[in-house]
Amino acid sequence: MPSQAPRPLVQLARISKGFNDGDQYHQVLDAIELRINRAETVALTGPSGSGKSTLLNLIGGFEYPDSGKLWLDGADCSLWRDPQWSRFRRQQLGVVFQQFNLLTPLNVRDNIAFPLALLGQKWNDWCDYLLYKLAIVELVNRPVEQLSGGQQQRVAIARALAHRPALLLADEPTGNLDAEAAEEVMQLLCMLAADAGSAILMVTHSNSAAQYMQRRWHLQQGKVHE
Ligand SMILES: Nc1ncnc2c1ncn2[C@@H]1O[C@H](COP(=O)(O)OP(=O)(O)OP(=O)(O)O)[C@@H](O)[C@H]1O
Ligand SMILES: [Mg+2]
Repeated sequence: MPSQAPRPLVQLARISKGFNDGDQYHQVLDAIELRINRAETVALTGPSGSGKSTLLNLIGGFEYPDSGKLWLDGADCSLWRDPQWSRFRRQQLGVVFQQFNLLTPLNVRDNIAFPLALLGQKWNDWCDYLLYKLAIVELVNRPVEQLSGGQQQRVAIARALAHRPALLLADEPTGNLDAEAAEEVMQLLCMLAADAGSAILMVTHSNSAAQYMQRRWHLQQGKVHE
């Protein structure tokens, strides 16, 4: 019997997206076709303004496509409304945003505990391990607004990984880190993919970070090339 292809965790079919710039329409993504399987890791590169963040935003449901179809874990997202998106994000998705998007009045611990609390889960050994690996143990009670850019980036990574998401969308997660910290982060991401079976789509401008991912995609002029 022929073996069945696995159901992709993420599938895009002819997804297009653009923005109105004054009275001009500027197409950013042009009939994109792609799939990501469970536990697959992908680095996404491309020039500034090519649409990398837009692509991540579409997959996370933070923006909607102009046309085309998106399936997440086999479900047709064009049928989803807010409750379905919220449930998917809470249970399956971790996001490291380019601008971090931490909850600034809260301290480091509460930022990381927040996605867990939404799932009815408590702080656990994995969270302690994340703090340790990301070298933020000492910062745990500090309000995140008092932290440096690199420190905030590491908190954002811990928050995204706390619930061991099935899919991690990470937008330049090592962009503010020195080489040593960046390497720790990449090792952590690979471990997550191997242990928890998480798939990763990571935007990066760093060749050495991209080397850690199994696949490499390049976005240019609206198209993704492998
Ligand atoms: N909400 C928006 N409204 C209007 N234009 C937008 C919006 N979001 C993105 N764009 C435009 O879409 C294009 C792609 O932006 P995007 O942020 O996805 O690029 P990027 O590849 O992530 O760039 P960078 O590497 O600089 O982060 C840019 O021309 C940007 O100006
Ligand atoms: Mg971007």
